[in-house]
Amino acid sequence: MPDPSAEPARFRGRPLDVGPDEPLARALARRGRRLLGRSLRYHRPRAPFCGVGHCTNCLVRVNGVPNVRACRYVPSPGDRIVSEAGWPSPEVDLLAAFDLLFPRGLDALHGFRRPAWATPLYQRAIRRLAGFGRLPDAGVPPAVTPGEERRVELAVVGAGRSARALLAATGAGPGTLVVERDRALGLPDGVESLDRTTAAFLPPPEEGADRPFTLLAVGDRGRAHRIRARTVVVATGGYDASLLFAGSDRPGVLTAEGALALAPVPERPPFRRAVLVGGGERVAGLLALWGTHVEAVIAPGTVGPEVARAASEIGVPIYPRTLLLEATGGRRIRRVTLAARGGGARFSLSTDAVVLAHRRLPNSPLLFQAGASMAWRSEAGAYFPALGPGFATSVPGLYAVGEVAGFTGAAITESGRRLAPSLGGRGPVDLSGLTTLLDGAPGPLDGYYPELVDRLPRRSKTVACPCEDVLLGELADFHARGYRGIEVAKRYTGLGTGLCQGRYCVPEAVLLLAAWERRPAPEVGRITARPPVVPVPLGALAGLPEGGARTGP
Ligand code: FES
Repeated sequence: MPDPSAEPARFRGRPLDVGPDEPLARALARRGRRLLGRSLRYHRPRAPFCGVGHCTNCLVRVNGVPNVRACRYVPSPGDRIVSEAGWPSPEVDLLAAFDLLFPRGLDALHGFRRPAWATPLYQRAIRRLAGFGRLPDAGVPPAVTPGEERRVELAVVGAGRSARALLAATGAGPGTLVVERDRALGLPDGVESLDRTTAAFLPPPEEGADRPFTLLAVGDRGRAHRIRARTVVVATGGYDASLLFAGSDRPGVLTAEGALALAPVPERPPFRRAVLVGGGERVAGLLALWGTHVEAVIAPGTVGPEVARAASEIGVPIYPRTLLLEATGGRRIRRVTLAARGGGARFSLSTDAVVLAHRRLPNSPLLFQAGASMAWRSEAGAYFPALGPGFATSVPGLYAVGEVAGFTGAAITESGRRLAPSLGGRGPVDLSGLTTLLDGAPGPLDGYYPELVDRLPRRSKTVACPCEDVLLGELADFHARGYRGIEVAKRYTGLGTGLCQGRYCVPEAVLLLAAWERRPAPEVGRITARPPVVPVPLGALAGLPEGGARTGP
């Protein structure tokens, strides 16, 4: 292992200039270095996309350990950090020549099956050529980090606005534990928290047990916590959705969260001139922050009055009901091609970033895992927990609050405050006047994808699942063969099986399949939520005290 006292951290051999607590991805972006690797099958350039540890675009190898997310990793002195894929470098990847020889990708899933005895040899070579990662370096010890077991009354997952309002209103103190992926700030006195710790697994509760919930959480440094709780509140918030278009996986395409995470200081954006995608309050906020760096606002649906007002004040053009067809460029995008919906002519804009802020999705894998009933909300194009009175999910003792429960705007905080009296069945709750997504209301992507697919440029690749490099064409092939439903699509193409757990590709694929299959999105189904929510080192699980995390009802 590196000697911490010796040298600064190095990225690909060069000393790194990292600020205190600064994640690697932001430190590199500050120096104009974004390209971190190449994709699995098509060797496409990869740079940070989500900025919050959900996708696979920023994986690097740290001190011989693969698959470390650069947007979450804060380098330590002496670290040796390299790219995972791209030979000899991510900028010049000679293995990309295989993309010309095999334009549909080296298909290790369905091809190369005969003769059977040679299959393992093929697979080994293909995995290498396709850019699959390497195991940890020889000599890197499989660290077993001692974990712990906690017994609490109330476990709250997330320390955002709704959770803080809830905790302030309940006067929660001893017996309450908050699990937060970042630093839990602003909690009431006496509330204990596990900072920089991600809740990774919440199986259905154990009937009749004193503390029926067993929540498994893992810290950034690999320490696992088994938390046995009587009541669990999921306040995991939401995240910015992706969008399908040709080149949507190019460096420079970011979610709003990704752009905010890479900004060296809040008022300085990580781009020169960006196109913002969306027409709601998220875009209005970005215009207020970075308006002078915005080339245009484009929206798949309508543009809200607050966006129209903010854009006109600073002279930013807006394009409502517009198809984003393609982003082009190499190591960084340079141009986007657009067309007005309803058959409008194509036109293009120069830009070095596309910032996706068109809709928020619930960060709901824990609710799926726990067996809560989920209901499709068409306005967001996603599944949200079906809530009974008092924010109770269909699982007794499990509550959802804030953005993950479908509340928006000021109602995010207010929902936390109103949950307090009903927690643990202590009383009724008044939900009146809270703004939620409207079930059955048309979403901004209503009818968007069928129109888009008809007009996508044929010569470009459209990646439907960036983690696994699954192309839109493969999904179209799946449909043309008569297969139906998102679960079958996952098994046939591999879409949704990557490290992001389908967070970015599955909602878009469900919308697309619903249009192709001419049936409502809920009938297209959903994929099975498999734990853990984030990759967990086996050494963390091995370090837990005896007692075992349950894996089912
Ligand atoms: S950019 Fe790091 S995981 Fe998405």
